[in-house]
Amino acid sequence: MSEDPELEARLAEQDSFEPPESFVEQANVSDPEIYEEFEENWPGAWERAADLLDWKTEYDEVLDDSNPPFYEWFTGGELNASYNCVDRHLDERGDEVAIEWVGEPTDEANRTYTYRDLYDEVNEFAAALRALGVEEDDVVTMYLPMIPELPIAMLACARIGAPHSVVFAGFSADALATRMNAADSDYLVTCDGYYRRGDPLDHLGKANEGLDGVGHDTETVVVDRLGDDGFGHGLGDDQYDYDDLVAEQSGTAVEPVTRDAEDMLFLMYTSGTTGEPKGVKHTTGGYLSYVAWTSQAVLDVKPEDTYFCPADIGWITGHSYIVYGPLALGTTTMMYEGTPDYPERDRMWEIVEEYEADQFYTAPTAIRAFMKWGSEYPEGHDLSSLRLLGTVGEPINPRAWKWYYKHVGNEDCPIVDTWWQTETGGMMVTGLPGISTMKPGSAGRPLPGIDARVVDAAGEEVDAGKAGYLTVNKPWPGMLRTLYNNDERFVSEYWTEYSDTDSDDPSDWVYFPEDGAKIDDDGYITVLGRVDDVINVSGHRLGTMEIESAIVGVEGVAEAAVVGGAHEVKGEAVYAYVILEDGYEGDDEMEAAIVEGVEDAIGPIARPESVVFTPELPKTRSGKIMRRLLEDIANDEGLGDTSTLRNPEIVEDIRESVQD
Ligand code: WT7
Repeated sequence: MSEDPELEARLAEQDSFEPPESFVEQANVSDPEIYEEFEENWPGAWERAADLLDWKTEYDEVLDDSNPPFYEWFTGGELNASYNCVDRHLDERGDEVAIEWVGEPTDEANRTYTYRDLYDEVNEFAAALRALGVEEDDVVTMYLPMIPELPIAMLACARIGAPHSVVFAGFSADALATRMNAADSDYLVTCDGYYRRGDPLDHLGKANEGLDGVGHDTETVVVDRLGDDGFGHGLGDDQYDYDDLVAEQSGTAVEPVTRDAEDMLFLMYTSGTTGEPKGVKHTTGGYLSYVAWTSQAVLDVKPEDTYFCPADIGWITGHSYIVYGPLALGTTTMMYEGTPDYPERDRMWEIVEEYEADQFYTAPTAIRAFMKWGSEYPEGHDLSSLRLLGTVGEPINPRAWKWYYKHVGNEDCPIVDTWWQTETGGMMVTGLPGISTMKPGSAGRPLPGIDARVVDAAGEEVDAGKAGYLTVNKPWPGMLRTLYNNDERFVSEYWTEYSDTDSDDPSDWVYFPEDGAKIDDDGYITVLGRVDDVINVSGHRLGTMEIESAIVGVEGVAEAAVVGGAHEVKGEAVYAYVILEDGYEGDDEMEAAIVEGVEDAIGPIARPESVVFTPELPKTRSGKIMRRLLEDIANDEGLGDTSTLRNPEIVEDIRESVQD
C-alpha cells in the first residue's frame, strides 16, 4: 500500500472515529445501557465481574466499605487463581492452546502449551516449590525474562497460596536485592540468561550479585534457558536446577489451596517519589475478577482468540493482560521473548501474521518507533486477523494513534487507549470498543462503575477543556489494598490530597493517582501525565529520587537533579543535572561513570539521555530544586518565571550547556 495523500489528509483532519460495524456485531459488550446499569446498581453491578470466576465459596458481600480506604471486595468468598486460570478450562479446552511462546532466535522452535500442558507444568512446579519449603503466604520472588517458566511459576505460586513478587529482568542486581529485602522474600526463581538482539545475555551473574545484597538466607531455582549458550556459572549452595526439581515431581498433582477473596495474590514494586519502591498489594478475588472483566469488556477477549500483548510480564501490564486476564477467560495468550526490531523491524507483524493474532495491545512508545521505522514493515504482512488494537502506559499523540489505526488496523479495528496504573490493577479510563466513539489522544470515558473525575486543587470538578487532576471517587475491585507492610504510606501516598482522612464515610475518601488530566463536554478524559516527581520513560515509571540517589552515589558527584524531557520515541527521557565535587572534571569519563552508576542501581531503562554538568542548580529561596524549570530547559520551552529563583544567573549557564 503506498501513501495515499488524499486519505492521509482526511485522517489528519478527522478527530473522531466510530467503532467499525463488523466489530460491533460481534463485540462482547455492545449495549450502552451498561453505564447506567453500573450507576444504578452500585456496587452490586460488580457481581458481573465476580461471575466470570469459579468460586469455591460464594461471597457474602460485594463491597465492605466500613473502614475506608481499606476496602474489601467479595468478602467471605473463597477461590484459587490457578484453578480459575487453568483447571476449570480443562474439560472444554484442555487441548486448546493456553500459552504460545515465541523465542527471540528465529531458528528456534516456538513452544506451545495447551491448557492440559499448562496444568501439568503448574502442578509439578507447585509441588517443587512446596518440596523446597515454600508455605502459604511466603513471598516468592521471580527475576525472569519472557520465558514460559515465568507465568508457570506465577500460577504455581497462586496454586499454593504463595504471593509472587516479579522483578523486571531488566532491573539491576541492586533493584532485585532491595525488593527481596523489602518483601522479606526467602525464595527466588531466576534463569541463566536470555536472548537480546541476537546475543545471549548473562542473567544469573546479575541475580547472584543481587543475592549477595539480600540480608537473609535464600533458596534459588534456576531455569536453564540458554543451554550451550550459557555462561557456566554453575549452581551455588541453595541453588537448584528447575528441570531437576520438576522432574522429581513428574505427574504430581497439587490441590489448589483455598484462598479468601482478600488474600494476597501478588506484590508488585513500583517507583514512587521517594527512593523506596512501593510494594503494591493485589488480592485474589477482586483483582482476578477485575482483570477478567476488563479483558472481556475492553480487549474483547474470547476463548477462541489468539491474543498478543508484547509487553513484559515483569510490569503490571503483563501480569494483568498477558497472564491473569486472558488465562482466566481461557483464551490463547502469546509471549514473545525479544525486541520488536530483531532480526528485522517487522518481527511483531511477522508474529501477528503467523499466529493470526486477534488483538494487539502495546505502548505508544512502541507505536512511535514503528511509525519512525516506516509503514512498509506492517504493510509487508497480512494483518487481517487483527480485530482490536490497544495502547497503554502513556499518552498517545493523535498522529501516532492515526498511524496505528491505518497502518496496523487497516481502519478496521477499534483502538482502546487504556489509562490505568500498577495500583489500579486493571484498566480504568478507556472506551468500550463496541460502543464508544473514539477520539485520538483521549483515553475516553471512565469504564462503567468507575467514578473518575478531573478536579482542581480544591477538589472541585473543572470545566471542560481546563487542565486539572485526575481522581477516582469510588473504590473498584482491582484496586491495591495497601502498600506491603505499610498501611500508613498507603494512606499518605494515595488518600490524603482529596480525602477527609478523619472520616469513616467512604464518600469522603478519594483516590489520587498523581496524574494531570483534561475532560471534554462528552466526559472524555485526556491524561496529561504525572504531576509528581515520576518520569514515564517508554511507558515505565521511574522515580527521580531513585535516579538521583544513584548518581550521588558515584564518586565525585556532590549533587544531582533529574527531570523528564520530551523524547520522540520514549515519550520522556531522563535528563540529569550534576554538580561535581572540587577536583573532579565533567568529562566523558565522568559521564560514563554516572550512566554506569544508574544502570547498576536501577537498570539500563533509567540511563540518562544526557548529563549536564553545572556549578549550581536552580533553587527557590527556600532551597528546593526547581524541577519545572529544569524540565523547561530540557524541553527548550523557554524559561518561565525565574523571579523566585535564588540563583537566576545559573539558569542561563545550564541552558547554554544543554544546547552545546
Ligand atoms: C502511569 C502508570 C498501566 C500499565 C502500564 C503503566 C501513565 C498509563 C496511560 C494512558 C496516558 C497513561 C499514567 C499513569 N499512563 N496509561 N493510556 N494515557 N497516560 O503502569 O508503571 O503503574 O504507570 O502511566 O501517568 O499514572 P505504571
